[in-house]
Amino acid sequence: MHKIFAKPLFLGKKAVFLPQCHSTNEELSHLVHASNEPEGMVLYTDYQQRGKGQRGNGWVSERGKNVLMSVFLKPTFLSPQQQFFLNLISGLAVVDVIKRVAKKEAVLKWPNDVYVNEQKITGILVESNLLGNKIVQAIVGIGLNVNQAGFNVPNATSLFLETGEKYDRESVVMEYVLLYLEKWYKSLKSGNYAAILNEYHKLLMWRGELRSFSAEGREFQGEIVGIDASGRLAMNVSGHLKYFNIKEVKFLG
Ligand code: BTN
Repeated sequence: MHKIFAKPLFLGKKAVFLPQCHSTNEELSHLVHASNEPEGMVLYTDYQQRGKGQRGNGWVSERGKNVLMSVFLKPTFLSPQQQFFLNLISGLAVVDVIKRVAKKEAVLKWPNDVYVNEQKITGILVESNLLGNKIVQAIVGIGLNVNQAGFNVPNATSLFLETGEKYDRESVVMEYVLLYLEKWYKSLKSGNYAAILNEYHKLLMWRGELRSFSAEGREFQGEIVGIDASGRLAMNVSGHLKYFNIKEVKFLG
């Protein structure tokens, strides 16, 4: 099934719906490797049998309840060191969607989980292909919990749980995801790195608060300062600035 999303200019102009699949990131990656698909192509589904999460985790979502989508980008203007900007703009786009569609304030848990009221509402998985010093292709996978009424994992929520309202996943939520992702992607392409970082820092969960974390099997208290030029989390720990990569630190509370 194919749908045309009207609001964005180029994201989603080609869209493929599969009633179910292993993972939208995997399916879209196969498609773009097999044929010359346009930048902005979207693949979405009602159900993933093997949804992929960050750090090798899975992503479980009730059939027909949520947005499970992947977007194909060709960000050849980014260097591998700037790859994390794709994570930042995807998170920023989802925060915009939640505000627009559900009138709720969302924040970003580093690097790009989207949280409402300290509960995770969206997971994002960006997978890139590098060629030399360029990112030739990227698949941005977004799992946004929309109408699901309960979760088997702690600290998860949905638009429905937050507002008591049901949403049209395709013509409301996805359409706005594409619209705002396009907005932020264009901003990135125009080189607005400082503005993007600034917006990201404003929305960064726990920034400036003394919180508990663990790293290398040790618990400690620290204050998130922001992210550095390569996307690492910068934290003030007992007066010293420490930097963490994605798998190196856990947020405790
Ligand atoms: C996370 O661990 O928080 C990231 C989860 C990303 C899930 C989305 S759902 C659509 C896309 N396809 C996948 O297999 N994963 C991403």
